Amino acid sequence: MNGQAVRSCVTPVSSVAGKEIVTIEGLSPDGSHPVQRAWIADDVPQCGYCHSGQIMSAAALLAENQKPTDADIDEAMSGNICRCGTYQRIRRAIHRAAGMMAEGGKK
Ligand code: FES
Repeated sequence: MNGQAVRSCVTPVSSVAGKEIVTIEGLSPDGSHPVQRAWIADDVPQCGYCHSGQIMSAAALLAENQKPTDADIDEAMSGNICRCGTYQRIRRAIHRAAGMMAEGGKK
């Protein structure tokens, strides 16, 4: 919402009036956002349940910090729980996406 990652499950609809909302469907029209491509390249999801939120948090992180450290990633992603434990692949994919964006792969 307005460029910040928020949890839709705890965000009342009444609080979003007039604000810019981007969901995973709006991240890119064809799945070509660097974070989406990195997720595929690193085969990140297991069951997939958590990954809409994981990807949106990762995209928000990279919009603010184009070269995050592992600690930056851990802090930014700490609110996203993955019951399947894909955290290492998530971190690797965020680094990959940052590299893609640095090479001009940003849409
Ligand atoms: Fe299953 Fe994250 S991939 S909860």
